[in-house]
Amino acid sequence: MYFSLEYANMCGIFGYVGKRADAGCIVVRGLKNLEYRGYDSWGVAYQVNGSILVKKDVGRISAVSADLFSNASNLALAHTRWATHGGVTQLNAHPHTNEDGTVAVVHNGIIENFQELKEDLLKRGHLFLSETDTEVIPHLIEEELRSSDDFALAVRKACMRFQGRFAILAMHTGSQTLVAARTGSPLIVGVSKETADHPQGYFIASDIPAFIEHTRLVQYIDDGEMVVTDGNSILFMDLKTGEERPKREVEIQWTIEQAQKGKYAHYMLKEIMEQKESIARAINQEEEEIETIAKAIRSARGTFLAASGTAHKACMAAEYFFSVIAEHHVNVVSACEFKLYHHFLKPESLLIVVSQSGETADVLEAIKIARSKGSKVLAIVNVQGSTIDREADYTLYINAGPERGVASTKALTGQMAVLMLIAYALKGALREGKQLLLDTVAQINDMLNPRYVERIEHLAEKIRQKNDLYIIGRGWNYPMALESAIKIKEVSYIHAEGFAGGELKHGPIALIEEGVPCVVLAGNDEVAVDIVSNALELKARGAYVIGVGPARRRPAFDEWIKVPDAGAAQPLVNIIPMQILAYFLAVQRGKDPDMPRNLAKSVTVK
Ligand code: AGP
Repeated sequence: MYFSLEYANMCGIFGYVGKRADAGCIVVRGLKNLEYRGYDSWGVAYQVNGSILVKKDVGRISAVSADLFSNASNLALAHTRWATHGGVTQLNAHPHTNEDGTVAVVHNGIIENFQELKEDLLKRGHLFLSETDTEVIPHLIEEELRSSDDFALAVRKACMRFQGRFAILAMHTGSQTLVAARTGSPLIVGVSKETADHPQGYFIASDIPAFIEHTRLVQYIDDGEMVVTDGNSILFMDLKTGEERPKREVEIQWTIEQAQKGKYAHYMLKEIMEQKESIARAINQEEEEIETIAKAIRSARGTFLAASGTAHKACMAAEYFFSVIAEHHVNVVSACEFKLYHHFLKPESLLIVVSQSGETADVLEAIKIARSKGSKVLAIVNVQGSTIDREADYTLYINAGPERGVASTKALTGQMAVLMLIAYALKGALREGKQLLLDTVAQINDMLNPRYVERIEHLAEKIRQKNDLYIIGRGWNYPMALESAIKIKEVSYIHAEGFAGGELKHGPIALIEEGVPCVVLAGNDEVAVDIVSNALELKARGAYVIGVGPARRRPAFDEWIKVPDAGAAQPLVNIIPMQILAYFLAVQRGKDPDMPRNLAKSVTVK
């Protein structure tokens, strides 16, 4: 049955159980750190004197005061919802409960068979208040509690009836426990300790920033697992069999400062500026690991790069790196299209997936397809312990630190840096590649100064009223033209389109008229002359040409944003002024670049 995305939601979920009596405040504060995951509505359920209190509403959690939840409570769960289509109402906000309010649940993902489950529950006399798929969960748990007072078992049995991807947190007035289960959507445990052997409490969240102010000790919940904790101890088990799964505790390297805005108005600008350090961290890979990967690519019977959105543009740039640097052919595919590529896959094929969050559903689907053909999977991710990290045979981390802005910026340049290292290793010149990238980092350090940022801010002022904006590039700057368009579209809502420079005359140039802003991404490379002649074609038709490149190309450029001459690393430097331009266009048009409409940071639904 086709499942309408009507009820799908991606969002942030967060729960706490433990010795602290301010559980309601803890989850509200933590949820504010997850707001980038969903900001249509919010809700909190917390246990007070054996009853469950629920408060929820449409709007952003950032506007909610934690004081609303000052009743003493040791157990709470919370949720920020991001509805993919319609349904942003108070009734549809999570948590959802059964009729007598004894079971409360929050959920991230899709229950694809919820209609049939709901019809069966309606026949049994259950009443529903919302139009969501999630609301069937507390009612199903209530049904299972009729035959057993074991809350964890009731949750497990209910979950076994779901089809689709989900992560849930649940509580019951009859037990002082927090129960979590996940299949496909992310969940992670934070462990807070009074002493080495005495836990103070447990946090369970969609993402680390929810509890990083309390602890950096985590335990990973794998797909198909559930967790039961009363705050003193915790049990991980297989969702199907109930078999216990021992888990080690891992100290994560992120700091609170990294996970917060600091002196910046928005995460997006902070993360753009962080590229002075994050690219250097991406380059800092074990040489032996990179050489091993290069060997695997060399011996593979076809190498496929699959990713979504911005990460896909990193892969498109990498195709040029592998061609120009290593003369090695790779196939780049948007992860959502990978299903139609499985015919090429052999057990000797290699799939390389690239993902900032490590949770993108389309990428997880690509991994599943590769596995079905016996192919090996290498992942290049930013979030350690993410689902893609744990599904892959081998993972490289870009070490960019938490990327909170919905618009991916520092992850992109980190991904391109790692892919470039692999291309140089394929050529047998890893050290040369590393040196080029380190030189580029130094150039970016010089470039990213306040005056430079101000220059681009003023440029944004000149074009912020425009409705259309075009970006062209050739070679490895063509994917950056597409990526620039994604950035500008997703945060400023200006209609921006990227083209290959050579494609203009095959149609798109019909769009050009007097005063239309056109950005030309250039470098001192094999196609430098070609892209300048494309710029002249645009100018001849009245375009307002903004050149981004190492050389001022008079008379082609009306404006010139100077970037260093970075050789094969040109895409890494050319995209940075475009990220800054997108940021200021958004801010100057009164948009919130960190939480753009209709988007979520991690697309965990197909
Ligand atoms: C990029 O700015 C967008 N937020 C989006 O295209 C994103 O790159 C895409 O959803 C892939 O996310 P991932 O890197 O976490 O897999």
